[in-house]
Amino acid sequence: MTQHTPNLKAEKIVGGVAVDQRHDSAHKHVTGEAIYIDDIPEPAGTLHGAMGLSTVAHGAIRSIDLSAVKTAPGVVAVLTAEDIPGENDISPTGRHDEPILASGKVEFFGQAIFCVIAETREAARRACRLARIVYDEQPAILDVWDLDPAKDRLVTPPLELKRGDAAGTIAAAPHRLKGRMRVGGQDHFYLEGHISVAVPGEDGDVTVHCSTQHPSEVQHMVAHALGQPSHSVTIEVRRMGGGFGGKETQSNQFAALAAVAAKRLGRAVKIRLDRDDDMTMTGKRHDFVVDYEAGFDDEGNILGVDLTYAARCGYSSDLSGPVTDRALFHCDNTYFWPAAHARSAPLYTNTVSNTAFRGFGGPQGMIGAERLIDEVAFAVGKDPLEIRKRNFYGTTARNVTPYHQTVEDNIIHRIVAELEESSDYAKRRREIAAFNAGSRVIKRGIALTPVKFGISFTATHFNQAGALVHVYTDGSVHLNHGGTEMGQGLNVKVAQVVAHEFQIDIGHVKITATTTGKVPNTSATAASSGSDLNGMAAQNAARQIKKRLIDFAADKYSVPHDQVVFLPNRVRIGNQEIPFADLIKQAYFARIQLSAAGFYKTPKIHWNRDEGRGHPFYYFAYGASCSEVSIDTLTGEYVVERADILHDAGRSLNPAIDLGQVEGGFVQGMGWLTTEELWWDEKGRLRTHAPSTYKIPLASDRPRIFNVKLADWPENREPTIHRSKAVGEPPFMLAMSVLHALSDAVASVADHSICPRLDAPATPERVLMAVERLRREAAGA
Ligand code: MTE
Ligand code: MOS
Repeated sequence: MTQHTPNLKAEKIVGGVAVDQRHDSAHKHVTGEAIYIDDIPEPAGTLHGAMGLSTVAHGAIRSIDLSAVKTAPGVVAVLTAEDIPGENDISPTGRHDEPILASGKVEFFGQAIFCVIAETREAARRACRLARIVYDEQPAILDVWDLDPAKDRLVTPPLELKRGDAAGTIAAAPHRLKGRMRVGGQDHFYLEGHISVAVPGEDGDVTVHCSTQHPSEVQHMVAHALGQPSHSVTIEVRRMGGGFGGKETQSNQFAALAAVAAKRLGRAVKIRLDRDDDMTMTGKRHDFVVDYEAGFDDEGNILGVDLTYAARCGYSSDLSGPVTDRALFHCDNTYFWPAAHARSAPLYTNTVSNTAFRGFGGPQGMIGAERLIDEVAFAVGKDPLEIRKRNFYGTTARNVTPYHQTVEDNIIHRIVAELEESSDYAKRRREIAAFNAGSRVIKRGIALTPVKFGISFTATHFNQAGALVHVYTDGSVHLNHGGTEMGQGLNVKVAQVVAHEFQIDIGHVKITATTTGKVPNTSATAASSGSDLNGMAAQNAARQIKKRLIDFAADKYSVPHDQVVFLPNRVRIGNQEIPFADLIKQAYFARIQLSAAGFYKTPKIHWNRDEGRGHPFYYFAYGASCSEVSIDTLTGEYVVERADILHDAGRSLNPAIDLGQVEGGFVQGMGWLTTEELWWDEKGRLRTHAPSTYKIPLASDRPRIFNVKLADWPENREPTIHRSKAVGEPPFMLAMSVLHALSDAVASVADHSICPRLDAPATPERVLMAVERLRREAAGA
């Protein structure tokens, strides 16, 4: 990567903070040199695991006959629930509702019942097919559309938010509307599927190389499954080939099984899921049904809202509580609801247990709010952008959220004003109207939508992080922290922070694999908080060492402390300058400790869930996007012609990486809202379990014109790491403008007199059906 010979005359270090710095592994990603878990040389005698899955969605297991499985070629062992020495549970929230292997009953099609360990993966997979399992099938609940949140089973207690008298305000409002929206789920479709390699050690110890966003949780789950203390389990991950929330909890099962097998057989065990199994067996983004009701006036000022967010959670709680909570935390998006009532309904279904996915319920929360805005715009006959702006949070008043946190950092007015101008919104809207008037088949549409996303884990205790920094005697630095790298550029950002502290080129900072042995009790790399938390912890560690160096140099050279100054790759002590490495050597000989553990916890946050009140977010990240689409009204096919984005990353630590996050997030969000459709048949079998049936965006689906800019202003600086803002998830929701542009294009076929109520994903079929429906309704009216 960068040069390793320090430039001792440089005015600036290579790779400090707030500069473009390429991803430390970018060149390795493209050349194939990056080592993913399946690339690690296998220990001699490594065995391979595959799981036997339920073929019914719900039922009691009457009998299991695994004799043919056990005698199949290459099979070494077959594990069932009884073979788990410790607890057969990997529920991340301690609800004890998620077995590693099903026991007695199955609750979704594809649930793991047994695990075959064989000499090869192929042999293990083939053997799985030979099981004879008899079920007493029971009725399965597959969808939430017809469920009743008040009566049907929930996987975790619902959340309720209340401010003011929503029902009374709506009843007294000059206008009212009511509607329902279906919002689809999403498969993570990381390039690297789930994988764990467990290597047994002495005294029952085990090391697991695991593709996970949450090494500490995997460690604890493996320890529970083995019935051993956490100190006997080490989890290591250098990088994931994408996580997107899909590896926050979903890695536990495979790590636990690999570890149980490895310990039992005394051989290394690898479990690498086939893509179809990965899509069938692991949780996805929750799909939601949003019921909304609003009261508003003639101008489109919204006075009160009542919202219910029902989610298909699957058979266990997993993270459905926090995910549906976060949906409610974003039921306002950038809008002030003078009176609000919102409730979540995390519903039990006989489908795979849904989990974290970029935005963590926030996107589903916001898309409900945006539908409501759209409906109001149609009801009062105004441009939706006008209704949006009219209902924005104020900066000094009208600034309290439904969860009673005051929005203190609101920059949405400026973001939207600048984007409206730079995207030429008003002029293009007129041009599109003229185009549509003259075009019979192709219709265009445009929309500009805002984003406000709360940063922090809503479980306050997760907002902590640790780091470990060593300086070796040659002046090179070993960096470790609790965060994990999944392509988002966390490692390079934290390395930039450390390089900046010591004022050394980033090439002198070694990025190392995340391991539970170096930094303990970490939180998942999630909630976009990776660089906020780990950047601060690493800075804290570096500053401890720096302070010792300053004390040492001041003492040794008899100068005041403020005369020890770290300059690029060198240190000025009084009126002489020496290379950084020389100072380190001197400090070592003087027996100065050159290693430190750093720590950070986010200040200011608190949350009382029972009261629905608190300050769950440290700050908000903002953004807006303007998308233009064209649709073919004969086929429903569409193209995103242009997208303009202005996104707030505070004072970006690394604009090159952050622009990548914004572009990637937008395109992934576009996939969610357009072509990525999950389909379960009446037996509860997921039929979209491979790229042949599940369509993620291709390079050719990207906006034809794509203008992406970061907003870097004095007014969006928070007391975060170098005043940057979290950027992992917020841009995902910028894609809402694509759905609304599609809706706008559809609306043109009925002269914008009817709200298309376009549900997500707006697949070409759904767009076509909406066009036909509007044409029919317009003709009938
Ligand atoms: N970017 C890439 N390339 N790959 C990923 O898996 N995950 C996203 C986001 N950006 C992801 C990504 C999700 S869901 C989160 S929460 C954040 O990155 C996590 O990393 P951060 O906290 O360091 O931003
Ligand atoms: Mo991201 S969904 O918080 O891993």
